[in-house]
Amino acid sequence: MAIERTLSIIKPDATRRNLTGKINARFEDAGLKIVGQRRIQMTRAMAEAFYDVHRERSFFGSLCDFMTSGPVVVQVLEGEDAVAKNRQVMGATNPANADEGTIRRDFAESIEANSVHGSDSPENAAREIAFFFAEIDLVG
Ligand code: PPS
Repeated sequence: MAIERTLSIIKPDATRRNLTGKINARFEDAGLKIVGQRRIQMTRAMAEAFYDVHRERSFFGSLCDFMTSGPVVVQVLEGEDAVAKNRQVMGATNPANADEGTIRRDFAESIEANSVHGSDSPENAAREIAFFFAEIDLVG
């Protein structure tokens, strides 16, 4: 299996509840290495650009409000099959549908305040990583 990188975001509902360390432990326990990480306050322009693919969805405005409502931790996870592995560790978008033992099942508050974002394909991972990080920021 290929060594991949994926973009993860610990969302404002989780940073607000001081869950960064607990969530990072889930990634590390699954064999994902955090090769870059930064705590930031997203601006409205950043949120709208990051979620541009969802611009026409009914929840776009609410999602951007939420993602700018507090600090987020943007991070790059590296490991075998990292994109798919991270999505397993996160669980389904809607916590009501997330498997037991996943981050969203254990920590998420709603489909919007769902604690973590993870890239959904290697192609999107490359684009999303470049949105927040330069190559020099990533140390394996
Ligand atoms: S979909 O329907 O497959 O495109 O949805 P998904 O890719 O799973 O979700 C995209 C992101 O939008 C958020 N989301 C919502 N926010 C607010 N309200 C509603 N109803 C809603 N549905 C989805 C969801 O948390 C996803 O955020 P990210 O950061 O991409 O995980």
